[in-house]
Amino acid sequence: MQLPPEVPLLAQLPPDWPAPEALGFGQYLGPYLVECQHRAEGGWGAPCLTPRAASPLPVASGATQYGLSVFEGLKAYRDASDGIHLFRAPEHAQRLQRSAERLHLPVPPQALILQLCRLAVQVHADYVPPHGRGSLYLRPTLFAEEECLGLRPAMRHRLSIVVTPCGDPLPKSVRLWAEPELIRAAPGGLGAAKTGANYAAGIGGLLRAKERGYDDVAWLDAATHTQLGEAGTMNLFVQIGDEVFTPPLDGTILAGITRDCVMTLLAERGIACHERVLTLAALTQAGTEGTLGSAFGTGTAARIARITAIGDGQREIRFRETGLIESVHAALKRAQETPGDGGRAWCDTVEPMGA
Ligand SMILES: Cc1ncc(COP(=O)(O)O)c(C=O)c1O
Repeated sequence: MQLPPEVPLLAQLPPDWPAPEALGFGQYLGPYLVECQHRAEGGWGAPCLTPRAASPLPVASGATQYGLSVFEGLKAYRDASDGIHLFRAPEHAQRLQRSAERLHLPVPPQALILQLCRLAVQVHADYVPPHGRGSLYLRPTLFAEEECLGLRPAMRHRLSIVVTPCGDPLPKSVRLWAEPELIRAAPGGLGAAKTGANYAAGIGGLLRAKERGYDDVAWLDAATHTQLGEAGTMNLFVQIGDEVFTPPLDGTILAGITRDCVMTLLAERGIACHERVLTLAALTQAGTEGTLGSAFGTGTAARIARITAIGDGQREIRFRETGLIESVHAALKRAQETPGDGGRAWCDTVEPMGA
């Protein structure tokens, strides 16, 4: 790895660093970026370490002008023996590759993405909270940095990882506003890619939800505004009777890694989980029939959020406490923090710097 001479190999924690419980999410950023440039002629360069404050992004870049940028969000945890591991890093790397393909950005080799992730953790090892009290969130971001005001694939890109330490998220409770007009994504669009455009499309809905006293948005399909997609920036799960349902990956929602974990954990517990179109009408009916159970959102940042209600101005669908959320949350936390838990190969050890 190339290092500027003034950069120490291990990022030091500043004095009066907050306890993990006071970190929140995304408030404190690690001091370094671990990055790699891509040139149309020459391909990927060597990984390098850049002080975060020194990283330039030109106003005329493809990323700034046209949103030619994709990203990932994954976490590193400390295990009970103080070792550090990345959780489901290959799956996150593969999703970054798919997002890059969709936006015609250069697709980084999986080995390069994983190497940069490991380096980002090694450099910020002191920023990984103690076992059970949080994680280091990594945000690998691939963007067009070439200056050009015409729309075309760029000749220069950068893959850069910024990190932020965060506390252990408890399952928070949210009420969702089923947004009747604005949409997040449509068939043929970018909904399955992790790219800024989806979040730009979503911010208006979030604000409209808050104006109406809700915490976040329940996104509906673009054509009929009747089918549920995502819960804000999380995947959605609903329990009806003794089964659990989650919307199918139809190209308009993100293929969440946590969603995949939860489906596996439910299956391991003998709970049937189906990928099925979920309409507001079907949930209303299940509520009337008394079969509607819990609902929750899943994501790397929040882990599990309890959805207490979904409203659209005409009706309020209320979910019940059944114990499902607590058991899924506990199983997921254990899987994330414990390498080898349940015999699953979801954790990859990150050796200390220089080991
Ligand atoms: C739009 C959206 N949906 C779903 C998710 C959940 O995905 P994951 O579980 O991989 O974090 C995220 C978070 O990354 C997201 O931004």
